[in-house]
Amino acid sequence: MKQFGELFQTDDWRKEKHVPVIECPDQVRTDELFSVKVTLGKEIAHPNTIEHHIRWISVYFQPEDEQFTHQVGHFDFCAHGESTKGANQGSTYTNHEVSFSLKVSKPGDIYATALCNIHGLWQSEKELNVS
Ligand SMILES: [Fe+2]
Repeated sequence: MKQFGELFQTDDWRKEKHVPVIECPDQVRTDELFSVKVTLGKEIAHPNTIEHHIRWISVYFQPEDEQFTHQVGHFDFCAHGESTKGANQGSTYTNHEVSFSLKVSKPGDIYATALCNIHGLWQSEKELNVS
């Protein structure tokens, strides 16, 4: 049996549309808020239909000298064109993009995970330096 972590796939986001792209400064100041944006399909668009869409993105922070991981946020994408008229006939589609602010007091790694309803779990990471 695989460990749960082994179920997460990753690749170069420029070639693989499922890999979360984490956009934030490489270097931040201690306890000062900074903006983070996580998207999918930045280079190659991912579909957003009832049959094929991104369900959620979750973001975590792992301080470099701590044992345990902190969950930063979980973002569900719930509208994919549902309608009484039929599949993909609805007026509302949630785009798989999240922006939020964060502050940390230590350097570490930001992890973004995402679930595609048919292509499973994906992850990426970004090192964060703190001064
Ligand atoms: Fe997919």
